[in-house]
Amino acid sequence: MTMWTSPRGPAVLVIEPMGNAGRFLVEAADRLGVRLYAATHEEVHDGYPDWLRTALAGVCATDLTDTARALEDMAAFCRQHAVAGIAACFELFTPLAALLARRVGLPGNDPRLAHAARNKILMGEAFAAAGIPAPRWAVAHDVAEAHRVAREGPDGLGWPLVVKPAEQGGSWGVSVVEGPDGLADAVEAAQRFTHAQPHGLALDPRVLLQEYVAGEEYSCDTVVAGGVAYPMPVVRKDTTKGRYRVETGHTCPSGLSARLVAQVRHTAARAALAVGVRDGIAHTEVKIPPGSRTPHVIETGARLPGDSLCEVVEAATGVSEAVAYLQAVLGLVPDTVPSRADAAAIRFLLPESGGVLRRVDIPGLPGTHSEVSLRPGDAVPEPSDSTCRVGHVVARAGTADRARALADRVVARSRVEVG
Ligand SMILES: Nc1ncnc2c1ncn2[C@@H]1O[C@H](COP(=O)(O)OP(=O)(O)OP(=O)(O)O)[C@@H](O)[C@H]1O
Ligand SMILES: [Mg+2]
Repeated sequence: MTMWTSPRGPAVLVIEPMGNAGRFLVEAADRLGVRLYAATHEEVHDGYPDWLRTALAGVCATDLTDTARALEDMAAFCRQHAVAGIAACFELFTPLAALLARRVGLPGNDPRLAHAARNKILMGEAFAAAGIPAPRWAVAHDVAEAHRVAREGPDGLGWPLVVKPAEQGGSWGVSVVEGPDGLADAVEAAQRFTHAQPHGLALDPRVLLQEYVAGEEYSCDTVVAGGVAYPMPVVRKDTTKGRYRVETGHTCPSGLSARLVAQVRHTAARAALAVGVRDGIAHTEVKIPPGSRTPHVIETGARLPGDSLCEVVEAATGVSEAVAYLQAVLGLVPDTVPSRADAAAIRFLLPESGGVLRRVDIPGLPGTHSEVSLRPGDAVPEPSDSTCRVGHVVARAGTADRARALADRVVARSRVEVG
């Protein structure tokens, strides 16, 4: 692992470190002796938790929704603080990070392709251009057009199909639609948010309709340094079934055969390169249709994974994706060789319906630790996207089956009461 002995190690500017992966970046910077700076909005910085505020060496306050101004402010900040690497934590700002890196002459992603890692319509085009297996798709501006494009072509997209916003994350506004009757509601849900909070970034209002890919779901991250892809472990992803596909958990290793693991890693690396990742990391989600050996890419983002996957992968393999990401943006060779072959699983506690949280109890079992994200008295959103999580449990064990079973046992013994 590369370490700097100077107390003033190299500096990395993170465009919005708030969010799930932020704490893993902070921890990785600490391990590497990297000074971490944040670029954000003044009012967003006011809401930072203490652990983040105190971990930062400084803050570049700007308006991230105004590309010209943000680039001007951040470039000046980079010169002033001798910044040696640019990172992004928020998917929607990954194109901005690519533009900044190019402007200040630091390692970064291809700015001409970077929007494809944020916008799922451009992503579909990039995958098609690179010949990457992915669901067929169509674009709609409104409900009438959605009905039309769902029917078009020799077979249409077929039913069920998936409706999702062109730009969003956290499963917000994503619906699996069984037939034409559900289309209007799904398009409305996908278009509900015109701006992403907390920055107020305007979103592409178009809606994507995708062919439904059946089968199990997996994710695989790819660190890319100097254009060379370093595939990370494959993780199995579990979600709710039905209209809303909210993550219920992840397990590493995935349980796939060595051959399929290699196939998923290869496909994920191709997807990362197709959306212009050159010095950074990508989180790619795939589904493998039953009976098929071809992973179909659902999406890829040029960022660290959310859902505490950094913790799950490191517990299972000893590889810190956040350390590897910082190394990649600093132009170094990333440490991606596993140092152990254990297993870990995370399970999320989801409510059965929305309301007010009355009570949450997560029992502690050996080999597990848990975190509560909502407190009694807090509003619990409907279980239609990942904001409804009440907490999570991480279990570590020698095998994936044992880690999953342990995490499931904790969830089964937990109590979530919503009134
Ligand atoms: N074409 C598809 N076929 C089958 N399932 C899909 C498809 N598209 C999305 N899904 C399901 O919906 C989930 C959320 O969709 P997607 O990943 O596109 O949205 P997101 O908001 O970026 O999600 P997140 O940030 O939670 O990963 C996927 O993980 C998958 O389970
Ligand atoms: Mg996703």
